[in-house]
Amino acid sequence: MPIYKNNMKFHVVTLFPESFSSYLNESILARAQKNKLIDFKFYNPRDFVKPTKVQTKKDKPYLRVDEKPYGGGPGMLIQAEPMLKALTFIKNKIEKNKKANKIKIIHLSPSGKKFTNTYAAGVTKKFDHVIIVCGRYEGIDARVKKIFKGDGLSIGDYVLTGGELAALVMIDTISRQVKGVLGNHDSVEEMRNASPDVYTRPEILVFNGKKYKVPTVLLSGNHAKIEEWRAKQAKSSNL
Ligand code: ADE
Repeated sequence: MPIYKNNMKFHVVTLFPESFSSYLNESILARAQKNKLIDFKFYNPRDFVKPTKVQTKKDKPYLRVDEKPYGGGPGMLIQAEPMLKALTFIKNKIEKNKKANKIKIIHLSPSGKKFTNTYAAGVTKKFDHVIIVCGRYEGIDARVKKIFKGDGLSIGDYVLTGGELAALVMIDTISRQVKGVLGNHDSVEEMRNASPDVYTRPEILVFNGKKYKVPTVLLSGNHAKIEEWRAKQAKSSNL
């Protein structure tokens, strides 16, 4: 059985930190933050560059982080320097803390290795801090990954406009493995026979004149039979 840790700190490098708050500050993840089981910090690479030109009074200073790719090609890339400065800042901050700190760096990219629940459980077990680097535009200068070694990961075979959604998926998946995040730890899916089909009241649902019943085994009170049924359901759905 996996060993679950009590705490996880996420550090997210992103050009769009505001895009995270609505999801992370709701429900289970909000409660977990309040209970100090998980913690999030955001770092904008723009905060690590000097203004290239100051525009009129009303306009904000122009904080450039993107450039054209060498060798040609469409779009723009995020430059290495602001990313490296942000990562150095994060690592120094973590390492200042006297506690032993194990850090995992994740570089998000549609061409990375597939992120899985097993990977998430491994990270929860072995690391105290997860640094997630979100890309935008056509990607990040490859030297960032060369200097700050980590795992290049993708959440699926599709291309998102940026890494922010992928980061949220990973944060959510890793967080629910932290002990105490799900009120009752038995809820962690992989630790039980999770049937893909679940039912709650009413026992008989009437919709458009048709009746939809709850499988009788679930009403039987026979826990061994119920577990057997759930295991069968889970198996047939490859969960
Ligand atoms: N950035 C863009 N698409 C992505 C994906 N599928 N996974 C991770 N990061 C991404």
